[in-house]
Amino acid sequence: MEVISVNLQSSKYDIVIENGILDDVGAEVREIYKEIKIAVVTDDNVYKLYGKTVEKSLKKYNFKPCFIILNPGEDSKSIETLQNLYDNFLKFGLTRSDLVIALGGGVIGDLAGFAAATYLRGIEFVQIPTTLLAQIDSSIGGKVAVNLKQGKNLIGSFYQPKKVIIDPLAIKTLSNEQLKAGLSEVIKYACIKDEQFFNYLMEIKTMKDLFNSLEYIIYTCCNIKKEIVEIDEKDNGIRMILNFGHTLGHALERYLNFNITHGEAVAIGMHYITNKTEELGYTKRGSKFKLEKLLDNFNINYDLPNVDMETIRKYILFDKKNKSGNINLVILRKIGEAFIETVPIERINYFF
Ligand code: GLY
Repeated sequence: MEVISVNLQSSKYDIVIENGILDDVGAEVREIYKEIKIAVVTDDNVYKLYGKTVEKSLKKYNFKPCFIILNPGEDSKSIETLQNLYDNFLKFGLTRSDLVIALGGGVIGDLAGFAAATYLRGIEFVQIPTTLLAQIDSSIGGKVAVNLKQGKNLIGSFYQPKKVIIDPLAIKTLSNEQLKAGLSEVIKYACIKDEQFFNYLMEIKTMKDLFNSLEYIIYTCCNIKKEIVEIDEKDNGIRMILNFGHTLGHALERYLNFNITHGEAVAIGMHYITNKTEELGYTKRGSKFKLEKLLDNFNINYDLPNVDMETIRKYILFDKKNKSGNINLVILRKIGEAFIETVPIERINYFF
């Protein structure tokens, strides 16, 4: 088992990573929670795959779980579903000293985390992420949110979990699309922080290699994220480097009405900006080629579809991450090293 301790000013928690740990979730939860009632928020797909396993393990440790099973997909990250969660928490008699578990991908983690952050002014919660994307990114660092009809994640908070429990074997049941979405973010971590890890990923040639390496891959990504979040919990500085590829990526998701996975949008964004910044002399020559090779290695598309760049620029300018007339653009100095360039919005055409 790998254990990563996240040490923040206001809280401290462990990320535990082990193949098969879903069978022993009860023991992991018992270490941080002494009462009995737990609201387990999950979706229908995840419940079918892992619901019974988790339930059995929780009951073995004398917990009383109540499963709240939602429809899979982004539409569940809504104010309406949030209200449904509060209703279920109240019906179950969940009190301030009880616990919420988020069992699922990023939608479930963000939604259940936000419900935990706000219900009775905040009750503790545990993340059990089951997609690669959630395991290496959204379950760590305390960003929780719901969507409004005006946009994604417009209502949210920073609310840290008490523990993150990661079973890399859960990745085996992901669709190819979900797997690639996670791998794009894996590549992002390597690009911004760890050249050795980038080279390690280059050596993965088969699915068998990939599955054999997952525990290490997840550990490495979580460790990079932990180090960044420990320095900048509230996303005012260095944490922004996690947005490498996301400036164009977010705009593209919006342009395509989210008919593209977040991972593919990020891959296109990473490639586009690296191509541009290499041309402009910000990025070491050859970095774009290396990035292409790694994306090809995992069969991840990085070609920008036929889009109207005027509209894309408009979306970039209205991204909620922009501050005081500036865009914080993440640029690679070279593979394994990134920096943030604050670009006034008037200069946006220079990059996009
Ligand atoms: N997903 C980026 C962050 O947690 O800051």
